[in-house]
Amino acid sequence: MNKLLNIGIVGCGAIGSSLAKAIMSDFAQQAELVSLYDSDIEKAYNLANKFSNRKLAALNLDELINKADLVIEATKADSAFDIAKKAISSSRDILIMSVGGLIQHYGELESLAREKKAGIYIPSGAVCGIDGLKAASFGKIKKVTLTTKKPPRAFAGSAFALKKKIRLDAIDKDTVLFEGNALSAIRLFSQNVNVAATLSIAGIGPERTIVRIIASPSAKRNTHEIEIESDAGRIFTKTENVIHPDNPKTSYLAVLSAIATLKQILEPVRIGT
Ligand SMILES: NC(=O)c1ccc[n+]([C@@H]2O[C@H](COP(=O)([O-])OP(=O)(O)OC[C@H]3O[C@@H](n4cnc5c(N)ncnc54)[C@H](O)[C@@H]3O)[C@@H](O)[C@H]2O)c1
Repeated sequence: MNKLLNIGIVGCGAIGSSLAKAIMSDFAQQAELVSLYDSDIEKAYNLANKFSNRKLAALNLDELINKADLVIEATKADSAFDIAKKAISSSRDILIMSVGGLIQHYGELESLAREKKAGIYIPSGAVCGIDGLKAASFGKIKKVTLTTKKPPRAFAGSAFALKKKIRLDAIDKDTVLFEGNALSAIRLFSQNVNVAATLSIAGIGPERTIVRIIASPSAKRNTHEIEIESDAGRIFTKTENVIHPDNPKTSYLAVLSAIATLKQILEPVRIGT
């Protein structure tokens, strides 16, 4: 029998919980969920209890890393880099969800991963078009623009709303909150624009990727439009996302995208660029 891939999940919220269930149900032949860690230990125990195995809950990150071949990060932007660095330093592969949190140090992680022979996996997340962008980047790309439209409440707690003292509940028509490069967008809206970070890494970098953020009181879904101008042609995608039932900031497609990435890791056939 082939060896199962041991997977540990850091962050037992909306995404971590969904991925744990998928590993148990969809990938039982290829992988084993060996550890769960959350800075709120009760969340790790609650999730472990759902699988009737309290021993799955780890008391700290080191314990999880020791047990896992692949670490899944599903925490928050300002934790992602430290978790990824620790896992990679121990030559563990890592799948990263809070991509916005590591954009400024991405080069450092990439070099470390080469040195430690570890893999970094970044799912496409809540957008379509990363495949075309990856291919087009072997030619010449002139411009990449992301337009993100969400209900105003989705931006609650962002550095932008807090700094500018914006009353999000008073927004009564589509309002452009921000237009600038991905680096600034990620700094101001770290929990909203992971997509901007993924797009930057796959394409022309965070300084040159343009981001427009719109608060729309009539929006029922989180919508991302991507426009790529390249010498291979013009690519335009629009993704209208259903919101995750357990977290209004998270799109359901982001979870499914991570499950699809796991399938790419675990199975011999890889479809798509
Ligand atoms: N890549 C994408 O397209 C995409 C899409 C949606 C969400 N995300 C990101 O994925 C991450 C998880 O999203 P979610 O909806 O599951 O969030 P969530 O708030 O439901 O869950 C996050 C969990 O992580 C735990 N946590 C926080 N800091 C931690 C730390 N340092 N160590 C261990 N646990 C910690 C929290 O206690 C919580 O249980 C967020 O950063 C979110 O922005 C990415």
